[in-house]
This record gives sequence, structure tokens and C-alpha cells, in this order.
Amino acid sequence: MNSDHPFLPYGRQSIDDADVDAVAAVLRSDWLTTGPAVDELEAAFATATGAPHAVCCANGTAALHMAYHALGIGPGDNVVVPSVTFLATASTAHLLGAGIVFADVDPDTALMTADTLETALGRAEGGAAAVAPVHLAGQMADMDAIGAVARRAGASIVEDACHAIGGRDGAGRPVGSTATGDLMTFSLHPVKTIAAGEGGIVTTADEALAERMRLFRNHGMSRTDFTATDQAFAADGDANPWYYEMTEPALNYRLSDIHAALAASQLARLPDFVERRRALVARYDAALASLPAHVSAVVRPSGRSGYGAPSWHLYVVLIDFETLGRERAEVMNALRSRGIGSQVHYLPLHRQPFFRQCYGAVDLPGADAWYARALSLPLFVDMQDADVDRVVETLHDICEGR
Ligand SMILES: Cc1ncc(COP(=O)(O)O)c(C=O)c1O
Repeated sequence: MNSDHPFLPYGRQSIDDADVDAVAAVLRSDWLTTGPAVDELEAAFATATGAPHAVCCANGTAALHMAYHALGIGPGDNVVVPSVTFLATASTAHLLGAGIVFADVDPDTALMTADTLETALGRAEGGAAAVAPVHLAGQMADMDAIGAVARRAGASIVEDACHAIGGRDGAGRPVGSTATGDLMTFSLHPVKTIAAGEGGIVTTADEALAERMRLFRNHGMSRTDFTATDQAFAADGDANPWYYEMTEPALNYRLSDIHAALAASQLARLPDFVERRRALVARYDAALASLPAHVSAVVRPSGRSGYGAPSWHLYVVLIDFETLGRERAEVMNALRSRGIGSQVHYLPLHRQPFFRQCYGAVDLPGADAWYARALSLPLFVDMQDADVDRVVETLHDICEGR
């Protein structure tokens, strides 16, 4: 470990005094669980994204579960997800009883494309109830092209935007506006662009879907529209003050006011976060481009989708480990020993033993090609320009066998 420099993780939160004050204010208030701070976060998120409804929940996994559930996804349905994503994009649909159809991705961006979706739909026996593109690393999949294919197939669209808060779609609308999908899900995990500790949000333009998600996050408890009128009402016709009905079995996916206050404070910093992350990415790109030709032939930035404006969550390089003559684990360990964290996003889901057991082997060459080369380098708001230079110099040294 190089003790001259602090360790650089691949991602981390940025917390300032305003964030701390926002949380402290909640701790001094009457509410800790879902209360006024959640209402304020939902209103602020709807304003920031232009979405008609924003529904907060416990984390990004809960957001996906709520979104699929709101659409009525269940046994007999297929959901198409790109193979390169975090487990939750698929596991939450699987938990509801749906079949998962893995779509291939562009080998250089790891994004689903209209072509890979089309091919996956061809494998979806009985069609697909939903398609769930993932805006990996913070750049959007081409939702104009994907949306057209999904609509033609009669599938709803759940966009997993857990990496992409702060970006813009092809028409310049904020990610989350719901102009490109029926539901868009976000994670507020600390490595993501805005942190709540744990937290999630779903946006939608559909009031009925929003209401279904609000019920699902709170045990299915309804205090209106009672069906058992014999129990619900007092003799004077007023609803009994203690009374509620369970519309269906559901979960406790509520976000606490403590987390919501932190997320709202972070949301106010989002434009600065996006700008800083873009500047760091530009510095990485320039530093990698200036490496000697024999090094940049084996290490290069991941591809750019060219759709919309990214809000970078990850900085991924593609390394030709075979030509380099070193294994990825060796490179990661060498980086770590010099104070630099890295990560792989992700082991494609079609390679997960669980899904292999469910669906057998699937041939997805784009996902496999991405997986063979991808390495996420440190990217977080409080990184200094010199940190980027150090990461690239260290990677250069390792590639040269130094
Ligand atoms: C693409 C993607 N989807 C969903 C999730 C789940 O979010 P959370 O960790 O907040 O449950 C993550 C988080 O790692 C993610 O990266």
C-alpha cells in the first residue's frame, strides 16, 4: 500500500455540512420514519425530473420490485433484462414469478440495443410483459429505438435508471421524466450519484401505478375505499378511526425521514455532482488517450452510446487482458496494493449459477465480450484531478510490468 496517498475506492459518497445539518434536523423533529421529509423528497424529485409522480422506497431493489408489481407482473409473464446489470433488475421480477429473458448488450457500452432486444423478444415464448433496459454506468440506452421495439411487442417499459440520475434523454429531458418508459427506478445507495445511505425512488406518469406502489410499500394498508362496511364504519356513518384494510399482502418498503432528508440535501447538489463527474471522465479520457500507442491498444475507455447526455456513475475501461498477458485479478490486486480500488460491473446474469440452472446456457457474445474486458476505476465527486492522473499512471506502470 502506498501510504503517501489515501486509498481511492471505485466509488463513494460526498457528504457536506448541509447534508449533516439536514439529517440532524430530522433527528430533532417528531418524525423518524416516513413523514414530511419523504413528502418533500418526492416533490423535489418530481420537480427535478419532470415526472408527474415520484414514489420513495427503501432501496433500488425495492423500487424495481414495486415497479414490476405495479404492472401486475407475475407467473406466466416474461421480463426482458440486459444480461449486464446488477442482480436486482432480474431477481425482483423472478420473485414475482416471472420468467427472465436475458438480452445481449453492445460489447463496448454494455447497453441493451433495439437489435439485442429484438433478438431477445424472439426467444420470449408467449411474448414479454415488460422490458427493463438498464442505463449502465450513467449513460442511457437508446430509448427511442428500444421504446419503439418494446411498444410494438406490447411490453411495458421499466427503466432501471439506478446509475443514471442527473442525465438527459435524446430529447434533452431529465432521466426520470417518464417520457421514455412507464416506470423509472433509482437507487440512493452511497456509491450512486446521490446518497441516502439506503433508498430508492420510482417515477411514473400513471397515477394508478403510483398508488399501487404506495400501497405495496406499506403492507397494502388502505384507509379509504373500504369493502367491509360492517366493520369500517361507526353507527354515525363515520369511518372508525383505527380501521384499515389490507388490499393485498405486501411489504414494508418505506423510506425513513432520516434517509429522505439526506437524499433531498444531496439532490440539491446534483447539478454540481454531474458536472464534476463529467470533468473527471474527460480527464480520464484525455489521460488514457495520451498513453503510448502499445498501451492504449490494450486499455481504452468503454464505448459511448451517443444517446442523450450521460451522468457518469462509473468509469469503465476495457482491457484486453489476453494481449496484456495478465489476468484481471492480477491487475486489480496490483492496483489495490498501490492504493487504488477497482471493481467489475458486472458478472453477466446469464452466467450466474442460479439463472443458469433456471434457463440453461444462453449465448450472449456481447455481454461476454464486455465481461472479459471491463474494469471500473475510481470515480467519485471528491476525487482530485491528481487522483485521476495517479490512477492512469499506475495502470500504465502495471501494464508495462513495473
Ligand atoms: C443497475 C442497478 N439496479 C438496481 C440496484 C439495486 O439498488 P439498491 O442497492 O439500492 O437496492 C443497483 C444497485 O447496486 C444497480 O446498480
